[in-house]
Amino acid sequence: MSDKGALVYVVDDDVSAREGVAGLLRSAGLMAKTFASGEEFLAAPRTKAKSCLVLDVNLPGLNGLDLQQKLASSDTQVPIIFLTGHGDIPMTVRAVKAGAVNFLTKPVDDEELLNAVLHCISSPFEDELDQNQGNMIGESEEFKAVLKTIQVVAPTDATVLILGETGTGKELIARAIHDLSVRRGRNMVKLNCAAIPTGLLESELFGHEKGAFTGAIAQKIGRVELADKGTLFLDEVGDIPPELQPKLLRVLQEQEFERLGSTRTIQVDTRLVVATNRNLEAMVNERTFREDLYYRLNIFPIHVPPLRERLGDIPPLVNFFVSKYAKRMRKRIDRVPPETMRTLTQWHWPGNIRELENVIERAVILSPGTTLNVPVSEFRSRGGISASSQETIHTFAASEREIILRALRESNGVIAAAAMKLGIKRTTLNSKMRKLQISRSQLFAN
Ligand SMILES: Nc1ncnc2c1ncn2[C@@H]1O[C@H](COP(=O)(O)OP(=O)(O)OP(=O)(O)O)[C@@H](O)[C@H]1O
Ligand SMILES: [Mg+2]
Repeated sequence: MSDKGALVYVVDDDVSAREGVAGLLRSAGLMAKTFASGEEFLAAPRTKAKSCLVLDVNLPGLNGLDLQQKLASSDTQVPIIFLTGHGDIPMTVRAVKAGAVNFLTKPVDDEELLNAVLHCISSPFEDELDQNQGNMIGESEEFKAVLKTIQVVAPTDATVLILGETGTGKELIARAIHDLSVRRGRNMVKLNCAAIPTGLLESELFGHEKGAFTGAIAQKIGRVELADKGTLFLDEVGDIPPELQPKLLRVLQEQEFERLGSTRTIQVDTRLVVATNRNLEAMVNERTFREDLYYRLNIFPIHVPPLRERLGDIPPLVNFFVSKYAKRMRKRIDRVPPETMRTLTQWHWPGNIRELENVIERAVILSPGTTLNVPVSEFRSRGGISASSQETIHTFAASEREIILRALRESNGVIAAAAMKLGIKRTTLNSKMRKLQISRSQLFAN
């Protein structure tokens, strides 16, 4: 993406300083807008385009730091480059403590300033990363409602039940609840109730004494106890077998339990956050889940809508994942074609955010240039609504295979050349070929 179109705000009470900076930026092809004070800047309308703020720390009235704070609390995300004078050290220290990273000392070197500005606006995805603390991305009203609920419930000690389809972000939400609670300095202990064989689940939860059962060769502290003063996240809580449900209920109601093989009652202060993609109410009706436990868990339910019911989250998620995987793979991808975005927004994502993330990861690997290359025809040909997630994953493997085969054919089977074409390392291509069972002998078979 070109940096043209980016807007640089310059706030400095010294007219010659701010006009000097603005002139420099304009001569580099950037748009600049000047303000004589923080108040003036706050009052002005701001664009949603990529922007950055060159800010004098030492301003009369609202100083640079006050302005930074006001912007942060009004949720305005704009990277700031502070200009500091030699006398501004205490203010600079405060700014650093507040998270500021860019400082230039006056008189500012033209080239340094330009570099700093270009750096701030060069990655269209960078802001997305910074904006989303804890990596919870989403702009839709549905998602914002979930965030609001999280903020309300997190600081309380209430049990939270997170309900949603697979891949909707339930675990991420559990983590956010813990991180926003007073317990954040303590453990968040996690247990996936579906991943542990029934026979072992009880001792995983409550621990055991040495010799409690055959094979209990040492004492073991259970997760409920490990999470004391912290949070216990029970994933797939619907999979807790009926015989353990009363024990969990007791933890919820009395905050007490016994280790296996012990009669000593242990008191804990453990907050429970649980999640499931199963319909607990139906399970209650079928009598596979205890009604009293259900009511005790259901005090504060959070329904996480599937991705297809919050399509507005797709573009920011796409940008976020592109940035994440491009960074990880050391590639530069700065364009997502509008028709690609449209197709991704129309897909119904049965595997929700996890599926989207996988698709973008593959696309980043397979993009030869700086434009994201998603084989959109794969989505279109399935026409959206009916395909299962299994099929999607399947087609993606198939299309990845096709793309690799084509690159190899076009390179006459020379792996290094094909890797270059695909924009990936030779070793990566080799391992992909192994995974997808592509051999050079197949190349010219059909
Ligand atoms: N709002 C979001 N922003 C960014 N990434 C997200 C968001 N929600 C989920 N993800 C990512 O999607 C993936 C799936 O999320 P998570 O594991 O929390 O889902 P889940 O609901 O627990 O799924 P399952 O029911 O299969 O256990 C993770 O990689 C997670 O980081
Ligand atoms: Mg999960």
